Amino acid sequence: MTALLSVNNLTRRFGRRAAVDAVSFEIAPGEILGVVGPGGSGKSILFDCILGRLAPSAGEVRLDGRPVTGMRARDMSRLGVARTFQRAQLFPQLTVRDNLIAAGQERRGSLWSRLVGPPDAGLADTAAEMIAFFRLDGLAVQTAGNLSEGQQKLLDIAMAFMARPRLVVLDEPATDLDETVREPLRERLRAINAQAGTTFVIIERNLDFMASLVTHLLVLAEGRVVALGDVQSVLASGMLASDDG
Ligand SMILES: Nc1ncnc2c1ncn2[C@@H]1O[C@H](COP(=O)(O)OP(=O)(O)OP(=O)(O)O)[C@@H](O)[C@H]1O
Ligand SMILES: [Mg+2]
Repeated sequence: MTALLSVNNLTRRFGRRAAVDAVSFEIAPGEILGVVGPGGSGKSILFDCILGRLAPSAGEVRLDGRPVTGMRARDMSRLGVARTFQRAQLFPQLTVRDNLIAAGQERRGSLWSRLVGPPDAGLADTAAEMIAFFRLDGLAVQTAGNLSEGQQKLLDIAMAFMARPRLVVLDEPATDLDETVREPLRERLRAINAQAGTTFVIIERNLDFMASLVTHLLVLAEGRVVALGDVQSVLASGMLASDDG
């Protein structure tokens, strides 16, 4: 089977130092890949390079076997790839519902479909679905800037799903979420994976959140891959150091 995403020898240098150093891995459709490693090990920069936010210094990225190295984030999202950021990126002055609609428009519509379609481009139903699915009920008409950090994080995650992506990269989704929201979020992600077959990358320092969610693990240290494989084999390798911070 062709990998959904394949990354070959990806490198990103800042000056002479490689923040990401010849990283290679593949993700099969339906997989949930956990990416772990100490702070500063290159987790975020790696996915910034894969998803078009930063230009890699060397290496190659393929989606469905086709080269997408250096492709702009916007074009990646049109190919069904979405992401969330370590710090939620939303429109603080817009309501929760309007943030969701804006995310759907940005990730889906051509200018033409926005001109000829209804003002909300038919996204209001999807927004309502996401609000219910991510249990943001009661917050739909709240201004995003007034939400708690945890609620903003949930909204940011819900926004990533507006265009029904095939691959979603979540950068520290559980950080800043209290326990009461963490477990429901994990259960929601599991449900999307099971029902829609959505493939996930979860970058997370909170190993408890990852446990019983991810199918595969990628362990980074100083920009290099130190372990990669299904969860059992990575755990058995002993390369997942207990100091995760
Ligand atoms: N613009 C930049 N210029 C120089 N070095 C940078 C820049 N951005 C990141 N780095 C360095 O790249 C390395 C990897 O950073 P990155 O943000 O990917 O780490 P991370 O694994 O995501 O860490 P965390 O768990 O804290 O989020 C770090 O050493 C960081 O200092
Ligand atoms: Mg990071």
